[in-house]
Amino acid sequence: MKGFYIITAEDELEVAKNALTIFTILAKKYIIQDDKFIVALSGGNSPKKLYQLLSAENDPASIDWSKIHLFWGDERAVPLDDPLSNFKMVKEELLDHIDIPTSNIHYMDGGAVPEDAADRYNDILKKIFASEPVRFDLVLLGLGEDGHTASLFPGVELITPDRYVSAVDAAHLGQYRITLTSKTINLAKNVMFLATGGHKAKIVSQVVLENNTINPLPAQNIQPSSGNLFWLLDNAAASLIPPEKYSSLENINL
Ligand code: 6PG
Repeated sequence: MKGFYIITAEDELEVAKNALTIFTILAKKYIIQDDKFIVALSGGNSPKKLYQLLSAENDPASIDWSKIHLFWGDERAVPLDDPLSNFKMVKEELLDHIDIPTSNIHYMDGGAVPEDAADRYNDILKKIFASEPVRFDLVLLGLGEDGHTASLFPGVELITPDRYVSAVDAAHLGQYRITLTSKTINLAKNVMFLATGGHKAKIVSQVVLENNTINPLPAQNIQPSSGNLFWLLDNAAASLIPPEKYSSLENINL
C-alpha cells in the first residue's frame, strides 16, 4: 500500500467536500498524465452528496468530463430503471446533470443474466484499459455494517472470484448482484471509502483497526497493493478511531 489516510469531517456534507477535493485533484493528475481518468463509482447512500457536488461542478477547468470514464463498483441485478439500481441512482444524482459523453459511461447491465453481465463487464474493462492488469485510477466504496463493501459480502462466495468482475448470489438479500472483485479493487491506484453516521462507528473501527488475517471481512480484504487507501469519515463514524490516526487533507500525497 502506498498511502493510508483517515480524513474526518464534521458531517456528511463536509465529508463529500473532502471527497470532491480528492476526486478533482486525481482527475486533473490522471488527465494530464494519461489523458483520461478511470473511476469506479459506489452505490448506496454514502456517495450521493459527492455526486451532487460533482453535478454542481460545471466548470470544465476543474472537471473535464470528456476525459473521465465512469464505471460501477457493483450493481444490483435489477433493470436499470428499478429503484434499487445503482445506475439509476448515479443517473439521477450525477449523469443527468453533467456533460459527459455516453461512450464514457460504462454501467453494469443489471437487467441481464448476472453471470453474462459480469462476463461482458470483464471484457469491457479489458478493452478500455487496453492492457492488463486493469488498474482503476480511483475506486469509490461504501461500507455496510456487516463489513461488506461493493457487493462483497461476508460468507458469500463469488461465482468467478479470480476474474475482474463476478456475479454474486446475495441470497440473504434475495438478490443477485454484479461486483468488482477484491482483486480488482486492490489493483487500483486510489481506493476511497466513504462512511458517515454513528451507526457505522463500530464497523469502521473494526475494519480500520483490526488486522484480521484469519477470517477477514470483505472490507478488511481491501488493501490496495500499490495504491492509496482513503477513509473519509464524519466525526460520528470516526468516533472509535483514536484521533492520532487521523490525517489532514493538506498532508495527503497524491
Ligand atoms: C450498494 C453498495 C454497498 C454500499 C454499502 C453501504 O450497492 O449498496 O455497493 O456496498 O456501499 O451497503 O451503503 P450506504 O452507503 O447506503 O450505507
